[in-house]
Amino acid sequence: MRRVKLLFIACIAAVSVYAQRASYNIIPLPKEVKADTTQFFTLKGGMGIAYDEGNAENTRIAQFLQEWVKEATDIDLQMKPADKNAPIRLSLIAPAKKNKKSKQPVELTEQQKESYTLAVGKEGILISAYEPAGLFRAAQTLRKSLPIAKGQSVELPYVQITDQPRFSYRGVLLDCGRHFFSVEFIKQFLDAMALHGCNQFHWHLTEDQGWRFEVKALPDLAKKGSVREKTVIGPSRMRIYDNIPYGGYYTQEECRDIVKYAAERYINVVPEIDMPGHMQSALHVFPNLGCTGGPYVVAPYWGVMREVLCGGNPETLTFLKTVFGELCDVFPSPYIHIGGDECPKERWQKCPKCQAKIKELGLTDESKEKVEGGDNRGSQDGRSPENKLQSYINHEIEQFLASRGRSLIGWDEILAGGLTEDAIVMSWRGTKGGVAAAKQNHRVIMSPNVYAYLDHPQLKDYGKQPRTTDSYIVSCSKIYSFEPLVPEELTKEQSDCILGYQGNLWSEQVAFPEHALYQLLPRLGAMSEVQWCNPDQKDFEDWKKRLPQLKKLYDKMGLVYCNEIE
Ligand code: ACM
Ligand code: ZN
Repeated sequence: MRRVKLLFIACIAAVSVYAQRASYNIIPLPKEVKADTTQFFTLKGGMGIAYDEGNAENTRIAQFLQEWVKEATDIDLQMKPADKNAPIRLSLIAPAKKNKKSKQPVELTEQQKESYTLAVGKEGILISAYEPAGLFRAAQTLRKSLPIAKGQSVELPYVQITDQPRFSYRGVLLDCGRHFFSVEFIKQFLDAMALHGCNQFHWHLTEDQGWRFEVKALPDLAKKGSVREKTVIGPSRMRIYDNIPYGGYYTQEECRDIVKYAAERYINVVPEIDMPGHMQSALHVFPNLGCTGGPYVVAPYWGVMREVLCGGNPETLTFLKTVFGELCDVFPSPYIHIGGDECPKERWQKCPKCQAKIKELGLTDESKEKVEGGDNRGSQDGRSPENKLQSYINHEIEQFLASRGRSLIGWDEILAGGLTEDAIVMSWRGTKGGVAAAKQNHRVIMSPNVYAYLDHPQLKDYGKQPRTTDSYIVSCSKIYSFEPLVPEELTKEQSDCILGYQGNLWSEQVAFPEHALYQLLPRLGAMSEVQWCNPDQKDFEDWKKRLPQLKKLYDKMGLVYCNEIE
């Protein structure tokens, strides 16, 4: 009996020792982890974090680290900026020059700017990086390696981690047009993104169902364009409404606050104003910008609307330049998304102003020609005069954005009328648009719906999850299996045009933060390994084994997630 009791106590002790041990089996997996699990550094309360106090970013990252260690383990670390012997040290290092005598600064790639090393040895934990972005990614790695356990100390196996992301663009879209999400929630969303090493927040700000961005020169746009009178319940085609007015928009001050919060987490905010389609909320406020003159309502149901901005009215371009001008003032992003998707042309085909503009520009009908990357459904995707008119508008906005030092991103429909010079294509209708654009030497972001649409179900059994957009399943394994460089179709040189991979959380069926998080997680965990890791590191079965540690952190952070994996 006594022996059994002793064994029992020994087991508890073993479990508690195990629970206090760090593990570098994290998500996304770092490039290189050389661990020695026979030797440990013991992290204890009262230990110091040293950093360069003169650098505000380093200071903030040290504070994050202090917060995250406390959150996971309840251990209090001390901020000791100048302590050279502190057991935890954050340090910026200069990149080595190829030619030692050269006075030129070393040009780092975007990925090198986020690279870091994290070493744990007998002296403690040393984090080094070329830029603060790298220190931040390293601090997240350390955070994810810690056990979620309250205790006096944590044992960290000795390790040398060398890490760098595979892609420079690692994005997630949140659709705030169909449903409005609070600033507070967007910050939580950004925290979740940062946890997964993402660096681009694609903020979908306008839709037929609501205009969410304040434009100071056009105050009615957000005030009136953000409110729909009612919302369809259940399938859109049934047209059954709740009869409850729904609205909300972001002031420019709130947008700047989001930009700052994101930047502190090394996330760029890519704002999208979707045009010339998906504009019914703007048409409600400015009916003169539509081909028929309206009246128009802020759309109460989902789908592709035939009412779009008039392509022949010069006031359309004046309106767009006002909107994109203020957008550039608020968002420092090098990329500005202009939408460009799902713009039916039936109004343009009959509109005297659109047809006059087509004539003036001499746009001919080549709609019978096959468009690489389009799905060639006649006037929808062919090189029709109307699609060329859309390309003309894109060109005008591209020039305008270039004058502000920005590049344009558009959904892959922008291929149809001919790509403008500097356009970046976001490939959503599969990968073919991205492949076609890369073959034309244009930059590409892969976001193919069947691998990247987070509004779709993640489990085969619809009954097990909240209502989502149906038609196909986007499971964790499906997401994980995606290869953004499409090696079977692109040469190495062409694949260099692929900037990265993005997941899209559309919100027709997602009205609440908890539901949005459920759609996001843990699928972002699967996506993050495609965004961050090299293909030879990927192993879905191994990913599943690493997920429980991350889920403990989700719990700690109050992040809702789907608890089943397919
Ligand atoms: C899209 O899903 N319409 C980009
Ligand atoms: Zn028109």
